[in-house]
Amino acid sequence: MATDRNRGALIIIEGGDRTGKSTQSKMLVDALLADGKQAELVKFPDRTTPIGKLAGSYLQKTLDLEDHAIHLIFSANRWEKVPSIIERLENGITLVVDRYAFSGVAYTSAKRGFDIEWCKQSDTGIPAPDLVIYLTLPVDQATSRDQYGTERYESTQFQKRAVENFEKLMTKNWTTLDASQSIDAIHQQMKDLTTEIMQQVGTRSIEKLWV
Ligand code: TMP
Ligand code: MG
Repeated sequence: MATDRNRGALIIIEGGDRTGKSTQSKMLVDALLADGKQAELVKFPDRTTPIGKLAGSYLQKTLDLEDHAIHLIFSANRWEKVPSIIERLENGITLVVDRYAFSGVAYTSAKRGFDIEWCKQSDTGIPAPDLVIYLTLPVDQATSRDQYGTERYESTQFQKRAVENFEKLMTKNWTTLDASQSIDAIHQQMKDLTTEIMQQVGTRSIEKLWV
């Protein structure tokens, strides 16, 4: 820490496709801002950078990439944001992150021939979250939500394997929320959890993931 001022919290929102992560992440940031807190939204993949554009094209199936190569591209897309993530946290800004390395590992290790340990390597050392909020929804329900099925990985079988992998990555700072609840009910729980963690982080140093 550069100062003894309270830092922001690193809050990760994870879950399978169509579990409401993006809607909830935006609502959470808006609610924190409305309360006068400093908060920003971060989204992975960040499809706006040169590295993120490769990931975006891969997901939209306009670009084919070897499976290890695309895994490393998703990781590189997180590493390129690490300096700005750390800087913002140290400046007291809470970050709400829509997907992180857990998605990276859960999705790649759903492919044949990939083990979880190999998949974790390339994200080892990025900032560790203070809290992971994991949204769960039976895959069959997620599949029937809007816009499902247009991008790569949006098949029921693949999603089922990814969800099983997320469950292998859970540690004690994960909280699971039932994504079939109303948008407002989920929001309220996320806001309460986040507010509590923001009070706890204080000047605690930012740890490194999987180290
Ligand atoms: P999105 O729909 O939240 O933008 O996520 C895009 C897709 O990319 C989603 O199917 C999950 C997948 N993904 C990975 O395979 N690896 C990663 O590291 C990330 C962040 C997402
Ligand atoms: Mg998607």
